[in-house]
Amino acid sequence: MLRESESVLHSWCVPADWNAATVVGGSGAWLQLDSGRRILDMSSLAECCNLGHQHPAVVAAIRAQADRMCYVTSAWGAQPRTELAEAIIEKSGFVGGRVFFTLGGADANENAVKLARAASGRTQGKIVTRDRSYHGATYACMSLSGDSRTRAQANDAAFGVLRVPPPYAYRCPFGEMDPDRCGERAADAVGSVIDAAGTGAVAAVLMEPDAGTNGIIAPDTYWPALRRATRDRGVYLVADEVMSGFGRCGEWFAWQRYGEAGRPDLMTLAKGLTNASVPLGAVVLSAEVYARIAHTMLHTGLTYCGHPLACAAGVAAVRAYEDEKLIERSRRLGAALLKELRAMQARHPVIGDVRGGHGLFAVIELVADRTTREPLAPWAQQPPALSNLLKAAMAESVSFGARGNLLILAPPLVIAEAELVDALALLDRLLARFFPAAA
Ligand SMILES: Cc1ncc(COP(=O)(O)O)c(C=O)c1O
Repeated sequence: MLRESESVLHSWCVPADWNAATVVGGSGAWLQLDSGRRILDMSSLAECCNLGHQHPAVVAAIRAQADRMCYVTSAWGAQPRTELAEAIIEKSGFVGGRVFFTLGGADANENAVKLARAASGRTQGKIVTRDRSYHGATYACMSLSGDSRTRAQANDAAFGVLRVPPPYAYRCPFGEMDPDRCGERAADAVGSVIDAAGTGAVAAVLMEPDAGTNGIIAPDTYWPALRRATRDRGVYLVADEVMSGFGRCGEWFAWQRYGEAGRPDLMTLAKGLTNASVPLGAVVLSAEVYARIAHTMLHTGLTYCGHPLACAAGVAAVRAYEDEKLIERSRRLGAALLKELRAMQARHPVIGDVRGGHGLFAVIELVADRTTREPLAPWAQQPPALSNLLKAAMAESVSFGARGNLLILAPPLVIAEAELVDALALLDRLLARFFPAAA
């Protein structure tokens, strides 16, 4: 049998240490391994299989489109592309806007920057982003991201990026104890950076409205204040909804929690857009942004822009979220998840903070001391006891996502309630076992 570690270079790992099981199938929230074992997936693989694995309607749509026409360039029309763009515009209410398709999240963000710069007329305009954010791993996205893993390779000046502190209420960079106030201060900081850069210097602000790899969930005051701060200054707001979209945060798109007060000028999508069944990303432009570029040459493109197989998968995925009422389900299960995690926090002093509750995305932050909030390990190192907990969970057939001191819970939105209850009961037992002082 071929050994994958002897031929493939994998991402986000020490290559020589890579040693993972092989997934050969899946169904609902479960993954099937080549050993015959089944694993309950509590992170939707990379927070992207929101509909669960091998969703039958999505698989059927890919198959049907493959029979009709696999590939059409952007120079020609393609039916599933139109259908998907219309569905996205309908769900987001970007009436009169347009959808530019990419291959994934990073290139969606890069193209959003290009389009925002083109529409603003600020070709070299600065882009404001925040620390502890993740927007992708291409060169531009390493600079757009405030991610500890890629900071050393980033070049903010080359890519015209200005950086602000994050709305991290548990460890507020502005020293505020009140989360709402911390959110407001973080939005104010964006306004100050725009003002300091000078009139017309900033083209856009790019931020995650909710769920993200770095485990910061902003207080509810943040996004509407950010919207006001950017609108007042004539700067575009780009919502990176790559992870937070498609029900993950209890709405089609996380900014919708704030209604029109949260509407960005552009948003980027990927992951749940096709349930990750075929790679696809998108930049959605408001009617106003589109009007500003409609009659100028667009100097951007990708061979696979709006690939029909991916768009057909996207159309089926959007239908499935709707037919199975998964946005509402995410909201309901997310509230139940948060309640259970808060109860766990009362039992385990190692849990410093519990964040989430808008949908099926929650973060547990582990601390050495709850009173002083001393981290269990310096960010973003993984404490050995947490690594052991994750291994023990796998031995009991549950895969949890983690980053540094954080456990990130983001199961498929289709997870059965009993499966969620069982996974949390296991987590409760393992926290007692691996953090005994806390039991
Ligand atoms: C918020 C956010 N933006 C962008 C990306 C990058 O997406 P991709 O890996 O498809 O390039 C990710 C990936 O995790 C993400 O979470």
